[in-house]
Amino acid sequence: MATVYLNGEYLPAEQAKVSAFDRGFLFGDGIYEVVPIYRGRLHRWPLHLARLRRSLAAIALDCRIGDGELEQITQQLLQRNSLENASLYLQITRGGVPGQRDHFYTEGCVASVFAYVTPWPQALDGPERPALTAITVPDLRWQRCDIKSINLLPNAMARQQAREAGADEAILIRDGEALEGSSSNLYIVREGGLITPPEQPRMLSGITRAVILELAGQHGVPVEQRGIARSELQQAEEIWISSSLRELRRISRLDGVDRHYDASRALYPKFAQWFHEDKLR
Ligand code: PDD
Repeated sequence: MATVYLNGEYLPAEQAKVSAFDRGFLFGDGIYEVVPIYRGRLHRWPLHLARLRRSLAAIALDCRIGDGELEQITQQLLQRNSLENASLYLQITRGGVPGQRDHFYTEGCVASVFAYVTPWPQALDGPERPALTAITVPDLRWQRCDIKSINLLPNAMARQQAREAGADEAILIRDGEALEGSSSNLYIVREGGLITPPEQPRMLSGITRAVILELAGQHGVPVEQRGIARSELQQAEEIWISSSLRELRRISRLDGVDRHYDASRALYPKFAQWFHEDKLR
């Protein structure tokens, strides 16, 4: 049985329990992070920590746990679960007061911190990852998708819709623009350059996205950060998505239409290679 961390204790997964009055349970009042761990090292940890702090500040969630402590907890989890290649799930909710359910932030709450690591045997595979298929769906989410909130019902609904259509990912469309996937960022390739939507409240600023943009800069690949019209997505030379768990993937079928890539000209194999080298550095 896996060992997880909950509020200062390391416990077998099935013994980890929070109060039914935790606002995370009642309102989805909390935030989270997912961090890849390669060879025992937290990948791009400072960027994940910065986003965690931004999410906490955005919902005024006061959590006293320090950055060093979060790292120590992760190292303990790796050790106790005998893992080197894994992903970390870290969630902080506002906590709660037994018997109270207030829409305003209940006074006297103490934040609840939960973390666990999942084995990731394919973490070092690469450089190219298996291609994925996708469908486009309307984006049903709120106006603050830049906060990594645990409220993921619209994302889950979109992913379920993709699954029922036999696809791996759902690309979310709002006001005619393709913004991101249900749990990934989006890119297209056009005339040898990358196009990806700019950071904005309607999407999550992915850490993997930051790495891809950094790699593009290092290798002189032009990047345009702008909206992608749905029609442009359908005609793109290449379509990619990225996330901490899926890394960088190309989309080989969109809305039931196969997408053919000329491997000798495609940008994907180059980025997959650069990404692979970067994560093992
Ligand atoms: N999701 N956009 C959304 C909506 C996401 O949920 C995620 C990641 C990303 C990519 O972010 P990053 O590169 O930092 O992982 C973009 C995580 C992996 C999840 O919910 O499991």
